[in-house]
Amino acid sequence: MPTADHAGIAIITLDNPPVNAFSFDALARLVAEVDTANADPDVRALVIAGANGLFSGGADLRDFGAPPRRPHLRDLIERIERSAKPVVAAIAGICVGGGLEVALACDERLATADAKLGFPEIKRGVLPGAGGTQRAPRLMGIALALDLILSGEPITGAVARSRGLVDEIVAGDILREAVTRAAALDGKSRRRASENSVTPDDAAIERARERAEPVERGGLAAHRCIDAVADAARLPFVQGLARERAGFEELVQSEQSKARIHLFFAEREAAKLPDGSAATASSVQRAVVIGGGTMGSGIAMTCANAGIAVTLVDIEPEMIERARAGIRGNYAATVKKGRLAQEAMDARLARITFAPSLDAAANVALVIEAVFEDMAVKQNVFRELDRIARPGTILATNTSTLDIDAIASATARPHDVVGLHFFSPANVMRLLEVVRGSQTSPATLSAALAIAKRLGKIGVIAGNCDGFIGNRMLHAYRRQAEFLLEEGGTPEEIDAALKRFGMAMGPFAMADLAGLDIGWHIRQRRYADKPPVGRYSRLADTLCEMGRFGQKTGAGYYRYEAGERAPQPDPAVDAIIERHAREGGIVRRSLSSDEIVARALYPLVNEAAHLLAEGIATRPGDIDVVWVYGYGFPAFRGGPLRWADSLGLANVVAKMRDSERVYGDVWRPAPLLAELAASGHSFGDRQRPVLAGAR
Ligand code: NAI
Repeated sequence: MPTADHAGIAIITLDNPPVNAFSFDALARLVAEVDTANADPDVRALVIAGANGLFSGGADLRDFGAPPRRPHLRDLIERIERSAKPVVAAIAGICVGGGLEVALACDERLATADAKLGFPEIKRGVLPGAGGTQRAPRLMGIALALDLILSGEPITGAVARSRGLVDEIVAGDILREAVTRAAALDGKSRRRASENSVTPDDAAIERARERAEPVERGGLAAHRCIDAVADAARLPFVQGLARERAGFEELVQSEQSKARIHLFFAEREAAKLPDGSAATASSVQRAVVIGGGTMGSGIAMTCANAGIAVTLVDIEPEMIERARAGIRGNYAATVKKGRLAQEAMDARLARITFAPSLDAAANVALVIEAVFEDMAVKQNVFRELDRIARPGTILATNTSTLDIDAIASATARPHDVVGLHFFSPANVMRLLEVVRGSQTSPATLSAALAIAKRLGKIGVIAGNCDGFIGNRMLHAYRRQAEFLLEEGGTPEEIDAALKRFGMAMGPFAMADLAGLDIGWHIRQRRYADKPPVGRYSRLADTLCEMGRFGQKTGAGYYRYEAGERAPQPDPAVDAIIERHAREGGIVRRSLSSDEIVARALYPLVNEAAHLLAEGIATRPGDIDVVWVYGYGFPAFRGGPLRWADSLGLANVVAKMRDSERVYGDVWRPAPLLAELAASGHSFGDRQRPVLAGAR
């Protein structure tokens, strides 16, 4: 029942922990409460507020895709719209998605200055489908409404006030203030956003269209949002609502939206330990990062950005100076772009200190090692750390290829050792592989996962093997890409086909950016005692032998003009490719885009199946998260395994068997993949039992 206070104000409370989402049950109760308040002659006005310190996080995503049941969120909003009595929204904490749509249907919105108001729908591949696209432009104008809806990011109450979305900022007790406002509105005619007119702004619509991705590259939701906001300026409110609805229905059914919702849940599951339990919050206050090179500097910035005081240790005084200047320059560039306030930069810099010796690790909760990728060097560092660090300190290594167990064996406390595999640039990339050694304790693993979250990263647990999850799959992908070059493609053709598919970069432009020398050194070391099995392309080795290490040397698979990052096709590379093909007895032919995509990406899916079977990856969704956040796999396809599911695993396996006949063993479907396909299952089915156990 709504609580009607002595002044005749009914308080409708959104209360469905943790975020007051509009589940079917919650909606049924709210609709009944609004009806009761409207029918009660003693009630003069209504206030809508949230329990649990926040307004509402919007729709309950768990209901997405379920058969629709009444009442809908739209029914609640229509009740508010039709109410003869005024309605005031009291907005504190989070007010997003459907929560904001409810608030926009009220006569007035009071908010705290730090409340967060926004429309995250676009990140789920849909549009605000309960009047948001029609009311927001009527309150803030077309351009600002487009900004809010297309960014998916929330704005604060204070900003919302300056943009017309909120009427008043309240410093004290917001509920009491809202009740006072509601009482004052009693007897006045209602103030409905739906009755405001909208000034057309074709220029803003045009700009938004230009910025949005093309529809086929994941831009479907963006374009439907723009359509709906444009409608607000040219159609009567009710017609605009109907069109918004049609757009929503189309998007909810779309593969793009389903894939994004899959990713949303996969990300949430990845944050849990393999047994499904949640990691406890991290209380790390001080950290030490060892090695002030590319990675160490980025990791130190990541710590400072998260409010952790960090000491960056390097034995080379020159490297310390370089790191100090690099970090300052990096922050200054962000300030210059307007993405960071000067005070925030100063605060972050103040959290970073520099030291020449490992003694700095004596009294901290977390040490992250990022020295040269050399086992002996790393083992020395860990031997020293074992002597210096206090008991219980998490000892993490950022190695990308070395055996975590061998590193841990340099200490007498391997249970405290874990891999924290950051991606470059470490302060930008969201992914963090948390690598479990054979002796890493559950407490250390849990703490490491919590640290990932604290650092603002998406942590995914991986087992200890060569390449962990991401790079092991990358190897399979890159290997096929090289074969495709020998068989007839050019770097630009192959990159273009995979970019059209949606990859952020093609494999060769990406390799040039990362530097070809790193992989070359790894191969030299690896193949010194164990030559590669099966087909091996020497193309990358040849490029490295010629000093073509990628962007940093002005040439790799492409060539680069001095100071430029744009890859230019290089006839010299084409000649090298042709020579290699000739020497390998390969007759070059033209390759279609479809063939390039299948040849490059099916092995990715296959390797993932091996990783799951071996227990290196816990859940299929973890793999999707790794590839979307670490390797630029298109989010609108939901990750490689979700994509494979959408094709049908039986189709994937059938194509792989065709390739196996032509190209041999490397195309043999992994037993798990073959098994899922034969039994009519998907990777998603494999995620579900894990999820069911985890809930
Ligand atoms: P880097 O060569 O830029 O930096 C290494 C730094 O460690 C140098 O400044 C060196 O002076 C310092 N160092 C060496 N021995 C030391 C010691 N005993 N004590 C203190 N400092 C010492 O190397 P980068 O690229 O930063 O890589 C570091 C680690 O991160 C490697 O294990 C690498 O495999 C890993 N990694 C690298 C990625 C990349 O894209 N560069 C991505 C992910 C991991």
